[in-house]
Amino acid sequence: MDHRGPDFARLTGEIFEGLRSVFATTGPVIIFPSSGTGAWEAAIVNTLKPGDRVLMFETGHFATLWQKIAERFGLVVDFVPGDWRRGADAGEVERRLTEDRQGAIKAVMVVHNETSTGVTSRIPLIRQAIDRARHGALLMVDTISSLASIDYRHAEWGVDVTVGGSQKGLMLPPGLGFTAISDKALAAAKHGGMPRSYWDWEDQLKNNASGYFPYTPATNLLYGLREAIAMLHEEGMPAVFARHARLAEATRRAVRAWGLEILCAEPAEYSNVLTAVMMPPGHDADVFRKAVLARFDMSLGVGLARLAGKVFRIGHVGDLNDLTLVGTLGGVEMGLAVAGVPHRAGGVQEAMTFLSDNP
Ligand SMILES: Cc1ncc(COP(=O)(O)O)c(C=O)c1O
Repeated sequence: MDHRGPDFARLTGEIFEGLRSVFATTGPVIIFPSSGTGAWEAAIVNTLKPGDRVLMFETGHFATLWQKIAERFGLVVDFVPGDWRRGADAGEVERRLTEDRQGAIKAVMVVHNETSTGVTSRIPLIRQAIDRARHGALLMVDTISSLASIDYRHAEWGVDVTVGGSQKGLMLPPGLGFTAISDKALAAAKHGGMPRSYWDWEDQLKNNASGYFPYTPATNLLYGLREAIAMLHEEGMPAVFARHARLAEATRRAVRAWGLEILCAEPAEYSNVLTAVMMPPGHDADVFRKAVLARFDMSLGVGLARLAGKVFRIGHVGDLNDLTLVGTLGGVEMGLAVAGVPHRAGGVQEAMTFLSDNP
């Protein structure tokens, strides 16, 4: 397809409109030919400048990566330490912003769903905390692993920059980075930010207005994106979110029945797209994962960074149904036996009972 031709503009017109509904916004959504990290970088360079202070929470591996990127660009990061079992603390947001009478903190940056831990931060509470502190910081949220699987509302929740990616809830291969942008963030980009070229929002928006991109877009992925959005709309976004909530609850019931512990310590923050499971002391999660891969050709999520060897992660994101979940849980339960990990049998049965009782 000619990405400067009229058919292409029709394709992108459909996609931009569809993406706005996925982010729950009527404002602009940009598509970079990049992984999610590219959209992160774009969020920083368009709105902030070296020396700016930002507030972040150590919720896990991905929050830590975001902190590192921010520091490479010369931002001064107030990184609130965490135990990787809880989400961002709204009370701490309010306290720190209330103390910041000079308005030195320019942005609050939160990972919505921490893919490394299976913890979902409650963004509406963070928004309320910023408002209670009467503070003008931008709110930036990483929805790379939650978008289109867990309820998310860019506009209603007053988020300024939302970053997403193609490879999780949108069920596509990696290669597209998304950004939904508020008027306030657009104004910050117009009057500030850092030198940028490839990541410039304004170039994108100017070209997107007529259906095009400032450089060669990832055309093939855009066809997939149109179909992914159509699938989500066919099911209906509330039904998509309810499906993930139900399958996640079935997973957690299986984990408890096995006698294993869920890493997320706060039930209100359980992730509906993955469950991180703690290994019993003296057992290595990677030995268990290798046994499952060898025996059942099923790849469980690895424990990242400080969680290496301590947890394994069951993914239940994107295109998933009762049978694919029960198959996954079957692989875990049989794998626990194969690898000699102490557990009780019956987790799969517990999940199936929950699914049957809650059709
Ligand atoms: C929550 C979260 N943030 C950021 C990233 C990094 O995104 P990418 O690997 O697409 O650059 C990931 C990747 O898995 C993620 O899950």
